[in-house]
Amino acid sequence: MSKVPVLVTGGAGYIGSHAVLALKDGGWPVVVVDDLSNGSRELVPDEVPFHDGSVADGALVTRIFAEHGVEAIMHFAGSIVVPESVEKPLDYYRNNTVASHALVSAAVAADVRHILFSSTAAVYGAPERVPIDEDDPKLPINPYGASKLMTERMLEDAAAAHPFNYGALRYFNVAGADPQGRSGQVGKGSTHLIKIAAEAAVGKRDHVAVFGTDYPTPDGTCIRDYIHVSDLAAAHVAALELLTERPDENLVVNCGYGKGLSVLEVLDSIDRANGTPVRREFAERRAGDPPQLVASNARMLDKLEWRPAYGDIDTIVRDALSWEHTLLER
Ligand code: UFG
Repeated sequence: MSKVPVLVTGGAGYIGSHAVLALKDGGWPVVVVDDLSNGSRELVPDEVPFHDGSVADGALVTRIFAEHGVEAIMHFAGSIVVPESVEKPLDYYRNNTVASHALVSAAVAADVRHILFSSTAAVYGAPERVPIDEDDPKLPINPYGASKLMTERMLEDAAAAHPFNYGALRYFNVAGADPQGRSGQVGKGSTHLIKIAAEAAVGKRDHVAVFGTDYPTPDGTCIRDYIHVSDLAAAHVAALELLTERPDENLVVNCGYGKGLSVLEVLDSIDRANGTPVRREFAERRAGDPPQLVASNARMLDKLEWRPAYGDIDTIVRDALSWEHTLLER
């Protein structure tokens, strides 16, 4: 199998930086473009070529393709906060859809052969049943999910007309940090449960609010499918291998463990890892939260040479917590 040069967009961000590590560990030549609007330069290893700029800058990405002989793209750059997407929808369509159009156009012009795209469980909206299958209805309930779904569709149509193949990986709830401590989530206005709970555990917050206790679930709190960020990064490498080995096939897969955990179960795990309990405050429901999101990962297991290496909540939480301690020492 040939390990082609890969451009990682958003490679200084949370998930992108873990993908860079997985590619580098696997011996793939890798180059990063990131405008540092959310990313952190220090999450990219020094030896990885880094370009500060936007994927919407066609001239810049065209230069990068030529300079590094790029044959594949992992496209992470984008905006990811659901409530923000409701307040600023046009920013989300610009950053997630219009910018992707510019990138894909430049890639087609430069004959880049493989594009792997960061998609999301938000494309399903509030599903009628779990676990969610890839072929279930795509009915996003916020601009974030819609902006990602549009890009999926654009890739599908463009790949039918031009000589490249694509993968869309629909992430469920990504959490944790590199087990070797090289990367993790940097808190710029954290909103995600495990990040917030880890911040509370190390004393950066005095409590965690539990948003809603009256959902139709066994303990009344929302159920999510949490996946370790390093397992997700490994899934990207496996997906890229598939795209390069089977240039006539595309790939759309859910990325999760297929296991649902409630907010309270996650907080119990934090308490186990931390030794002392984090203070919980029971609060109103947060707008737009579906009660349950759990992946069917049958296709992921079937198509990808991938198995979870960190597939339990205590491991995810342990790594999230040790990264939070690393940030305190910085
Ligand atoms: N939660 C709390 N307290 C907090 C933070 C979160 O109780 O302080 C709860 C939420 O209400 C939700 C669960 O924890 O029930 C998980 O919330 P997150 O914010 O961690 O994650 P989401 O499920 O909202 O978001 C994820 C992905 C998004 C994706 C979305 C699809 O991170 O990218 O699922 O609905 F769009």
